[in-house]
Amino acid sequence: MKFPDIKYLFEPKSIAVVGASHNESKIGYKILNNIKSSGFEGRIYPVNPQGGIILGIDVKKGISEIPENIDIAVISIPAKFVFDAVKDACSKKVKFLIIITSGFSEIGNIEEEKKIVDYARNHGARVLGPNIFGIYSGASPINATFGSEDISKGNVAIVTQSGALGIAMMGKTRSAHIGLSAMISVGNKSDVDESDLLDYLVQDKNTKVIMMYIEGIKHGEKLVAALKNATKKKPVIAIKSGRSKRGAMAAASHTGSLAGADSIFSDIMMQCGVMRAESIEEAFGWCNFLSTAPHPKGENTVIITNGGGIGVMAADACEKYGVRLYDDLNKLNTLFSGAIPSFGSSKNPIDITGGADKNQYMQALKVAFKDKAVDSIICIGCETAIFKGSSLFEMISQIEENKMCRKPIIYSFIGGPEFDAAISSLKMKKIPMYGDVYEAISAIGVL
Ligand code: ACO
Repeated sequence: MKFPDIKYLFEPKSIAVVGASHNESKIGYKILNNIKSSGFEGRIYPVNPQGGIILGIDVKKGISEIPENIDIAVISIPAKFVFDAVKDACSKKVKFLIIITSGFSEIGNIEEEKKIVDYARNHGARVLGPNIFGIYSGASPINATFGSEDISKGNVAIVTQSGALGIAMMGKTRSAHIGLSAMISVGNKSDVDESDLLDYLVQDKNTKVIMMYIEGIKHGEKLVAALKNATKKKPVIAIKSGRSKRGAMAAASHTGSLAGADSIFSDIMMQCGVMRAESIEEAFGWCNFLSTAPHPKGENTVIITNGGGIGVMAADACEKYGVRLYDDLNKLNTLFSGAIPSFGSSKNPIDITGGADKNQYMQALKVAFKDKAVDSIICIGCETAIFKGSSLFEMISQIEENKMCRKPIIYSFIGGPEFDAAISSLKMKKIPMYGDVYEAISAIGVL
């Protein structure tokens, strides 16, 4: 059997919403509303036996009334009706079925799920789900989810096995100033799984970073092959829950997943070149930096700081996260001696000391921007009466808006409310800013 190209899932031309509801509080209404407001330019067919009009679109009383074959059918009706809807959709040569409905293998209803998938596959269709919140694809664009209506477009793709957490992450990308290229809920992974999605995402020009939330793996060898291929081209970050005994039990009842031995998962991810994050916070911190930073030419990194203590912490963090600090002391001295006071240090951390103002910071930074020996820059510091929030804001805005630095540069600054306000304003401009130096350096380590 020849199955449709995965690109139709991300770039459909026609979509049916089976269970499009007249009731604004229902999932079927929300999905239709999101598809409509996402700027989808293809044909949309709401299906509901009651007919009528929803959101200004004529409703078909059955799939058979749709006047063309359809690329996608989103199904949001109770589990007992799903199989018949799948049969009808297959009669319209549907390419992908997005089954939102819960109540299948995750609660032991394995036979019904298998019956649906077998039927679909025997008719050349593939199934995403069931037990999912849908898919958002920036390439189309289409938001066929019941998550947030407001999505900021960007270059991070997220694949999630958890529905509610996925919806929450979708919202959090906005507060974390991360732009999405795609968001896919895989739920029970009855057919389409992470490997299929990676095949698309790896060649998708909108996607720069791929993040996955995984509870369990069904086809290990297939995933390993897809990950090895993906990480040659793009960074892949994975959060794998169910690490502990109790966590694994929770995963089994959530998505019916077998968590497996955690250390084996970690080793395999490492062999595939996947970066494993402990938490969503950590994964988002990495996504933020990886989605904006250029690729470094080498590993030589310099730390530029106005605070000795934070410089020491940064040096520790570099050792922890495998960031190589440039250590040719003679060269460092030649490069930076003109940019630091006599009582400062050029030994990397480059300590321009607490008396430094914005201009002195810039002077040291410009040396690092220019010299070929420096591959990446860690720009950190503390609030002082000389280097206030306004100085921080102006300095980083000037660097970023004028594209003064063509190398990876990461910022971590610590201070009071004025500094925090400056950091928030810089984040609003989609500049990755870190409050904690360990968080920042873990991101540059991952790069
Ligand atoms: N074809 C088309 N429309 C139909 C059909 C059919 N065969 N049968 C019923 N409908 C219509 C109904 O008339 C209704 O329309 P109306 O509201 O205008 O009257 C609409 O489809 C929806 O049907 P309901 O019976 O009202 O079902 P409801 O919307 O309450 O529930 C749902 C359906 C949402 C799929 C539910 O069964 C379910 O599975 N909910 C869980 C979804 C979920 O959580 N997914 C998991 C991941 S996300 C997460 O975890 C947060």
